[in-house]
Amino acid sequence: MPDQTSKVIVTGGAGYIGSHTVVELFHAGYEPIIIDNFVNAEKSAVKGIENILGHKVKLYEGDCGNMDFMRNVIRQEKNVSGIIHFAAYKAVGESVAQPLKYYRNNIDTLLSLLELMHEQTISRLVFSSSCTVYGQPDALPVTEQSPKKPAESPYGNTKQICEEIMEDTVKSGMAIKTVALRYFNPIGAHESAEIGELPLGVPNNLVPFVTQTAAGIREKLTVFGNDYNTHDGTCLRDYIHVVDLAKAHVSALHYLERKSEKSSYDVFNIGTGKGSTVLDVIKTFEEVNQVKLNYTIGPRRPGDVEKVYAEVSQANAALRWKAQLSLADALKDSWRWQLKLKKKSKQLP
Ligand code: WQD
Repeated sequence: MPDQTSKVIVTGGAGYIGSHTVVELFHAGYEPIIIDNFVNAEKSAVKGIENILGHKVKLYEGDCGNMDFMRNVIRQEKNVSGIIHFAAYKAVGESVAQPLKYYRNNIDTLLSLLELMHEQTISRLVFSSSCTVYGQPDALPVTEQSPKKPAESPYGNTKQICEEIMEDTVKSGMAIKTVALRYFNPIGAHESAEIGELPLGVPNNLVPFVTQTAAGIREKLTVFGNDYNTHDGTCLRDYIHVVDLAKAHVSALHYLERKSEKSSYDVFNIGTGKGSTVLDVIKTFEEVNQVKLNYTIGPRRPGDVEKVYAEVSQANAALRWKAQLSLADALKDSWRWQLKLKKKSKQLP
């Protein structure tokens, strides 16, 4: 088990998944170093992390794609043992409207980090990928060997391209050990309600829209289609608690520390292995939180995949990691976080 001096750079460490991972890294005995430009995150997340840990965490505000900025961080922090790379734009719809912004940012940052790792002999990288690389799988549950499909959006394409960049870099013999974690649908919040999802503007994703509707911030939720081939006609996904997802990143670092090879590239599905439909989410949310949700059934959302959920035996075995928290746990934690946000917004001047 690493001692507290085992430093890990977390790009996007003030973001939704990044902030939860910083907490779990600290609990696992690492010293997380947050890099964030706060384009897609708020400083309050760092305060929330410190409230949970009862400890200051190191923060460098800036762009992880800026080589000089990152060189300075590494010079100041000395023995950085690895990097977890979250920083990327991730709004599917926005990526369709602004593809160049997505290709420039999401790919350039990875290229810069890989060059920096080579230059500074940092040998471990955990990369944030996504199940969107599978598109609509031909067979379910989807395994890491399931064929990747043409991406449905520039966002999804940047994830596919980044995976290929990592694979080719390792094949070239560069001394780095890398893992790409293909997330399914992250939901929930830390049980303390000190950190959670902070969608900017109108949420694209289901669960923040559910909690904002229940909190009266949104008038109603529209269920995008109920004529799919599922038990209740609504789309099916693999919703994973963000704390389980955060722990998977710590397990991935431990996995890389165990590996003896000089260069390696591995991919793992990070999900629960269980599928839930949109109506399952709504009904579970209402039940566990004893609230009524105002929703209507509307037309399908273009680009939506009908059904996807993960086969997770490879992550369970190789990473020695398994999701522990349920859909009900995540929806309870999401609601507690939303109520805290609502209370805080009332206190604002
Ligand atoms: C889930 C289901 C919607 C909103 C995307 C990205 C993925 C990842 C997670 C970044 C779908 C339905 C939603 C609403 C609804 N993002 N829905 N009404 O599309 O599975 O995945 O977000 O890493 O990469 O692709 O997640 O939460 O948007 O939708 O009915 O108001 O909820 O149709 O079936 P998705 P989502």
